[in-house]
Amino acid sequence: MRTFWTFFFFATIFCSSHAKTDNLLDGADLGYGEYLSGECVTCHSKDGVDKGIPAINGLDAEVFASIMHAYKIGDMDHPVMMMVASRLDEEQIASLAVYFAAMPDAN
Ligand code: HEC
Repeated sequence: MRTFWTFFFFATIFCSSHAKTDNLLDGADLGYGEYLSGECVTCHSKDGVDKGIPAINGLDAEVFASIMHAYKIGDMDHPVMMMVASRLDEEQIASLAVYFAAMPDAN
């Protein structure tokens, strides 16, 4: 957990001083991600348990953000997730990515 916060701290500083990079995690805000996650955990287990719907806790934040962007632009094809992702902007996806990456996986 401490490693995560250290990373988050430097990532925040780095991102604010290099506002326009191609970083998928630009603008990420853990608290905002937690707030937005309420919608996701109606389907995805909050405890990271896979019950037919894949668990998304503990995924690498960049991988998570890439997946969400893939759903958003239709590179990954799943009707529900395409609809969910289409309503999220870059900052929301980044925030969800850092939040779920910090959540414990069931395994
Ligand atoms: C109505 C149910 C539902 C909701 C709400 C939902 N998802 Fe999903 N999600 C799914 C299903 C079902 C899949 C599996 C899709 C597939 O098999 O291709 C999935 C897949 C994913 C994946 C890919 C996981 C993997 O390992 O491939 C991610 C990441 C994800 N969802 C994130 C989210 C986020 C973030 C939210 C909230 C903003 C969200 N989902 C809301 C049902 C949902």
